[in-house]
Amino acid sequence: MSSATTSITVDGDEVGSNRGAEQAGTSDPASRVVPGRVRIDRYGLDLGPWLHLAEERTRLSRPSFAHISVTPQGATLGAEVSGVDLGAELPDEVTAEIRRALLDYKVLVFRNQPIAPAQHVAFARRFGELEIHPFITGNAEHPELVRFEKGVDTGGFENGWHHDVTWREVPSMGAILHAIQVPATGGDTLFCDMGAAYEGLDGDTKRRIDGLFAIHDFMLAFKHQVPEGKQEEFRARYPQARHPVVCTHPETGRKLIFVNCYFTSHIDGMDFDEGVELIRHLAGQAKVVEYQFRVHWEPDTVVFWDNRSVQHYAASDYYPDVRIMERASIVGTRPA
Ligand code: SIN
Repeated sequence: MSSATTSITVDGDEVGSNRGAEQAGTSDPASRVVPGRVRIDRYGLDLGPWLHLAEERTRLSRPSFAHISVTPQGATLGAEVSGVDLGAELPDEVTAEIRRALLDYKVLVFRNQPIAPAQHVAFARRFGELEIHPFITGNAEHPELVRFEKGVDTGGFENGWHHDVTWREVPSMGAILHAIQVPATGGDTLFCDMGAAYEGLDGDTKRRIDGLFAIHDFMLAFKHQVPEGKQEEFRARYPQARHPVVCTHPETGRKLIFVNCYFTSHIDGMDFDEGVELIRHLAGQAKVVEYQFRVHWEPDTVVFWDNRSVQHYAASDYYPDVRIMERASIVGTRPA
């Protein structure tokens, strides 16, 4: 394999270089040119294809399901699923295929699913025990459903990349969000494949974070939601949680970045500021657009995401319009 370096100039100044336009080692090396990435050093800007996505993208491009229809959407995550009524009692083989699709595609979008809260809970229970959220108000009759009701009095504060509830010793395996009322425009939810984000890290960073643990704390994001005088009680009930910085997905075996800027307080045993900088860098990988998939909601869209594989971000661009969603979260396993 040979490589070439090309200077990049802007207004006559050399500002960066092409770090390796490589030719694959075939009998005719010129027959297949693998493009390298180009760096604009001045702005720390990396351009070019993210080659490491190709394998997962190819794997997902040929869905094979007997009981549901799956249409891939993003490069390594996201699929629309049809041919299923989530309000009905689903046969085991359908539930098993939904579970397999979730592991592969990480975010499943079901359109036109007018489910009542009891049906939402019943569908979610097919995948495990459900969480009760201690800080976010639930549906009045179904406390397993967290209700996000936004409007002129309450803007959306979920516009930061996060895995849900990593402050728990056992965070959720997945979440199922039902759109009850959506704004006229905006209010999309973005998802990021944290396995693709891990694979895209350079070798030095991977070696540096191998074996590190991070401390997660509900107080970072939910401090203001704890009732006056209840902080000690909540702290006793939800002590800080310690999770690996890089987790291995318990079902797929894929490695994932498992820190976020909502709940990850610091890196255990590392200088505080150095750890915060590292968390910022790792969690910041969620901003790489090529790792993302974006859901535009319609009334009665239901999205099921694998909370171990993806982080999410709810765009808060619709104020003062109304956006009402309900979420069921399924208890997972201790991250390892
Ligand atoms: C969340 O779980 O953070 C809410 C996502 C959303 O409202 O789109």
